[in-house]
Amino acid sequence: MASQVGPTPPSASLPSKSRAKGGKDGTGSRYHAIFLAGTTALSILLILIGGGHFLGNLSDDAKNLHHDFVPDLPYLTGWRDENGEFFGLHRLKKAPIHYGGLHIVPAIIWCLFIPFQHVATIRRRYPAAHRWMGRSILLSNLVLCLSGLAMAPRNLSYTHRNVWHLHGGVIPTFEAGTTLIALVQLLTIAPTYRTAAARRWKAHQLWARRHTLAGAVISLQRVCMGIIMAYGLLVSRLDKRTQTEWFGVPRTRAEMYEGERAAMAVSAWMSFVFGLAWWYYDEKVRSHPVASSAPPSFKTDKAKVDKQ
Ligand code: HEM
Repeated sequence: MASQVGPTPPSASLPSKSRAKGGKDGTGSRYHAIFLAGTTALSILLILIGGGHFLGNLSDDAKNLHHDFVPDLPYLTGWRDENGEFFGLHRLKKAPIHYGGLHIVPAIIWCLFIPFQHVATIRRRYPAAHRWMGRSILLSNLVLCLSGLAMAPRNLSYTHRNVWHLHGGVIPTFEAGTTLIALVQLLTIAPTYRTAAARRWKAHQLWARRHTLAGAVISLQRVCMGIIMAYGLLVSRLDKRTQTEWFGVPRTRAEMYEGERAAMAVSAWMSFVFGLAWWYYDEKVRSHPVASSAPPSFKTDKAKVDKQ
């Protein structure tokens, strides 16, 4: 991200044999491949959701579809608002700059660029692209956090109006969950940039991974929504009485709205827990002295570059 003067990133100085062994990104290469595949898949998912949101909100056909279709969807699969319509239906029309320009567009930039940053070959061959994508990623994320935080106050989020409300007396709101996620993301922006500017590559890789995982929590939240929807679909296969008596499926539109809004909050906190577990695992893998599998020249390089 910083202008490329001085020592090259460690990935550039590693002979290919040691890279295959596991020194490439400071983590075991198999885990790094999983990290890359996982974050890429999550990014693609969000690009599809974000793009779909644009198409879904702007086309009249889709609008009618949401209108007619959502009220009949099983509980926990419709994400209804108080009128029984899909909660995201009017967002883009209501706030095209805020919701579209300041959130979905930077979201797509962030998701598009982030996987490339973790590919050592790209970093090595195209350092200028790495720097520019890095700057765009961090700037997009700043915009995402600020526009995300401003969504609930502007009634653009599927959350409870009172941020102190506890769903079922236990679960904090979706807004509380996303605020926490935003704070974690914000805290990773400056260190990711500053470590790159100071050419502290090891620390930079560490913060870049933290930033990526903090952002991936947003996609994980959509995965958690999918898990909840799958549960809703399964329950909807049971007979009505079992659904109501054993699984608490509500009958009225107002109750469905309450329940689905609570489920949205659950999805945010679920994703936070999954993200935390992944983060913890990432830190653990990184704290292993895998650099010992790298040749002595790399270790000496690192000692010179990472003065921390
Ligand atoms: C890497 C960071 C982020 C990405 C890639 C991202 C992506 C997106 C996308 C694509 C949408 C629109 C489609 C959809 O509704 O699923 C969206 C909506 C939304 N985002 Fe983000 N976002 C990010 C960060 C944040 C942050 C930090 C917050 C927290 C304050 C936030 C809060 C929201 C809210 C409230 C919505 C409206 C939808 C809802 O109520 O569920 N986002 N985001």
